[in-house]
Amino acid sequence: MNRKLIAYFFLLFAPFLFSSCAKHQKSVSAPESAPTSLKPSPKLSLSKQTEKMYGLKVVPEKKAYHGISNRDLFAFKNSAVKSPQKKKKVQLIQYGFKIFNNTPKEMGKKDVGDLLSCGSCHLKDGRAPFGASLVGVVNRYPRYSPRDKRVIGLRQRIEECFERSENGKEIPKTGKPMKALLAYFAFISRSAPSGTIGYGYGLKPFSLKGLKPNVKKGKLLFAANCSKCHGLNGQGGMDAKAGLFAPPLWGGRSFNTGAGFYKLKKVVPFIQANMPYGHGGTLTPEQAEEIASFLLSHPRPVFHP
Ligand code: HEC
Ligand code: HEC
Repeated sequence: MNRKLIAYFFLLFAPFLFSSCAKHQKSVSAPESAPTSLKPSPKLSLSKQTEKMYGLKVVPEKKAYHGISNRDLFAFKNSAVKSPQKKKKVQLIQYGFKIFNNTPKEMGKKDVGDLLSCGSCHLKDGRAPFGASLVGVVNRYPRYSPRDKRVIGLRQRIEECFERSENGKEIPKTGKPMKALLAYFAFISRSAPSGTIGYGYGLKPFSLKGLKPNVKKGKLLFAANCSKCHGLNGQGGMDAKAGLFAPPLWGGRSFNTGAGFYKLKKVVPFIQANMPYGHGGTLTPEQAEEIASFLLSHPRPVFHP
């Protein structure tokens, strides 16, 4: 897309974007049950199941993910924006995008203790349906957190991914990186008005009922389906040709025992819907659970609250 056009679209969205952020902070939604506790009903469409899970209306896929891609945004040169105020906003979103996709490098070892970026799990810049999509995340907070047993805001929830999934530390709540991530989340939520979330928000509705973890079978399946990119020892690896980094799945440089993915009910739907990378949906739920139980049978950093 032509850069001027991108600038034009962005400026069109910017006022909506930033005004919506403050508005959303006010509403407190009711406690919700953990998504995967829902038994998928073959009678309900995926959108309806997501609506039931989160208690928010689902914006259809085409609408939720339309508009300038994040890659366009990143390539966008600020010289096209005349107003210094708007320039600052664009720069903040761009910084948020950078942190999201290159977290260890942007934040440094002080804050991040593994090799994972936010985008390692929140796939395609946080915009992949059922790849832990965050389109509309600004509409979910503040809300009651069953884990914290209190109402938390989006900043607090971001901290939790830093402490657990990033195996790192809380970052300053009012610092520039936090502001940048919030601006970035408002940006990717721009097609999801208050009270809605994007199609495929979070993880795929999934039931583990009746499945039995089988580490032995998982080991064989892992070698056949995953080790090519993530390494036989789960250490991760770089595919230079594709420019893709497959992050570690266990060991000292992976997410810690406090992370959502340390639970089968979160990591199984993720694996089934998204892995092997580029071939999501090809493993059966049984195979995904066997692989996941093998993956979680290895040591990893321990979370200290
Ligand atoms: C190891 C994988 C992983 C990494 C890395 C990760 N997250 Fe998450 N994140 C998750 C999972 C799993 C959830 C819960 C999804 C669910 O329950 O549907 C989540 C949830 C969230 C939520 C709350 C979504 C909601 O609706 O409540 C936010 C916000 C978030 N992550 C931000 C981040 C940020 C920012 C980073 C990087 C600093 C990050 N995450 C890194 C796995 C990860
Ligand atoms: C073609 C390479 C490739 C294959 C094969 C592959 N992955 Fe991945 N995987 C990736 C990449 C790349 C990412 C990070 C995505 C990103 O950064 O956009 C990832 C991310 C992940 C994550 C979240 C991040 C983390 O480190 O915890 C998990 C879990 C995962 N893969 C599990 C698996 C499993 C299980 C298999 C086998 C069924 C598998 N992958 C097969 C490339 C691959």
